[in-house]
This record gives sequence, structure tokens and C-alpha cells, in this order.
Amino acid sequence: MDIAVLSRTGRVTFDVSPDEPILYSGLRAGLALPYDCATGTCGMCKARLTEGTVETVWSEAPALAKLQRDRGDILMCQSRATTPCTLRVPGEMKTLPSDARPKAHTGKIQSIQRLTTDVMHFEVGLTTPMRFDAGQFVVLTAPGLTGGRAYSMVNHSTFERDLELVIKKKPGGALSDWLFAADRSGEDVGVFGPLGRATFRPGEDGDLVMIAGGSGIAGMLSILEHATASGHFKRHRGHVYFGVRTLADAFYLDRFATHAAASDGALEIVLALSDERPTTPMHPAYSGIHLAHGYVHDVADAQLAPDCSNHACFVAGPPPMVDGAIRILIGHGVAAPSIRYDKFG
Ligand code: FES
Repeated sequence: MDIAVLSRTGRVTFDVSPDEPILYSGLRAGLALPYDCATGTCGMCKARLTEGTVETVWSEAPALAKLQRDRGDILMCQSRATTPCTLRVPGEMKTLPSDARPKAHTGKIQSIQRLTTDVMHFEVGLTTPMRFDAGQFVVLTAPGLTGGRAYSMVNHSTFERDLELVIKKKPGGALSDWLFAADRSGEDVGVFGPLGRATFRPGEDGDLVMIAGGSGIAGMLSILEHATASGHFKRHRGHVYFGVRTLADAFYLDRFATHAAASDGALEIVLALSDERPTTPMHPAYSGIHLAHGYVHDVADAQLAPDCSNHACFVAGPPPMVDGAIRILIGHGVAAPSIRYDKFG
């Protein structure tokens, strides 16, 4: 079934699968369609349907509230075509390089490990390896659950068969309820990816600043792994601000401590506790991890140098935290387009 996309660069068509959201078919075909979350929360994949009909994958997707649905607006990540369609999208339509096009994969859940009372590490063993950049994410689907949920990879390597992922338990979160309810080892899941543009590019210049809340730290660890392996901290400094409520809510501290030790003083890790006042300036069990009290973006604001204009900045977490961190980085001289971020709700 054909989808025609009208943009400032003209008209292009691609073949859509009736079982797949239009966004995913378009990205697979190599069109750089607009998106951020790929799971119905941000509204970036908005398009206007001028011909044809679609069905909505997840009728409670939060970003549906941002649309003018009576004028034909749809979310491409939440719409499956039921007839050939014509869509209008804002801006220009570029083509993705062949090695950057996401694909549909299958995999099995494995290596489940509780990190805190409400955070779980798990892996997905893919049937075929995936190439992904540090900071990218995948959308997981599980049997019997409507729609997919996005998870950033914690690990990084050029071709990877095992994706390391982290999930925070959320009341009413379909996939988190499913994963926390029973031991899901060996269960089949669908994996679409890699997705996301908030990525680290080896060889880029400048110090790194990373600000993340809760499970948003996943992509930052992938970036740290890649930056450490590519020798970035031999030439530049890094500042990581990781926000959690209390000391007991922090996780992956062993990985952070290892990266800090390997950096020979170039990497500073700060754990920001919003609901607890630390009693020591450094973590009592992990050397190289500083402690601070406050919201993570406020802690970053107080500790970053006044001029961070030549830094590469990454932000990930819930939307209010990401918006706060972006405002603060702009206040420290960082140009808005050079802040790479992932918002998830
Ligand atoms: Fe579709 Fe975010 S990309 S709502």
C-alpha cells in the first residue's frame, strides 16, 4: 500500500505495511520523517492526512491531545494505514543513509536483574545483531500489549546481539507492569530500532555535559562507554549529573565509578538527590561519585562553568526535567540546536 508524503522538497512515496505504524515503515524505507519519542508522547511526528484513512494504534497516546484532529492531523507513530494515503509534513524531506535505517527485529528477554525496588535491568537477545550509536533507543512490543514503549540502550558496540536496557516501574505502565509482574526470561519481544538522534559522535570536540533523571541515565552510560573507549577523556573533560530521589534509588554506580577511575580525573560524576540531604560530599561506597542535594538541573546550574558554549550536551528524562535542563544549558551559553535530548513520559 502506497503512502505519498508532501513536503517542501516535493512528493515522495513509500510502501507501508498495514501492520506497522506509518512512521516505522517510512523510516525503514529511508525517509527522514520527523519524530522524537516514536511512542506517542511528544507530538513531533504530526502530519496532516489529506487523502486516505488510518487507524490509531494507541488511542490514549498523550500527544493526540496536541493535534487538530478535526483538520486531519495524525501522529505517524500511532497510525496504521487502512487505505493508500497522502500526508503533508512540515519542512524538508531528507533521505537516511542505508546504515542508519531502523528495522524490525525479534528477540528474547534475558538477564533480568532488580537494581532498586522499582528499577530493573534486563537484556534482549536479538536474533540478528543491530548496529546502533551511543545514545539511541529501541521500541519494544510484548505479546498481548497495545503499542510499544521506548528504551535507550545502556551498552554500546558497533554490532550488538544483546541489548542492555533499564526500566522503571510505573503505575499503569503496560510494559513495566508486564515485566515486573512475573519472571519474563525467555519471552519473545518485538524490537524496532535503532531510533533517536541524541547521539555521541566519536571524534567530536569539546567537553561533555550529561544531565539525566532516573532511567534517562541509560543512554548516558552508552555514551560514556563509547567516549571512554574512543579516548575522548584523554583530550576533554566530562560532567555527568544523575538525578534520583534518595541514595537508595541510585543504580549503575559501579559502572560510573569504573568510568571515573578510567578517566584519570577527567570525568566528574555527581549524584543529585532531590529528597535527601547527603551526609558526606562523596558517595560512601563508590569512590569518584560526588553527592549533592537538589533537583538535578539545579545542581548542574550551580556547578557548571558560566560558559559551556563549546560543550557537547546531552539531556534525558521526564519532560519537565529536560525542559529545565535545556533552559539552564542555554543560560550557560550553549546554543539550543546543539543540545541533544530525549524526553520520555
Ligand atoms: Fe510520535 Fe513522539 S514521535 S508522538
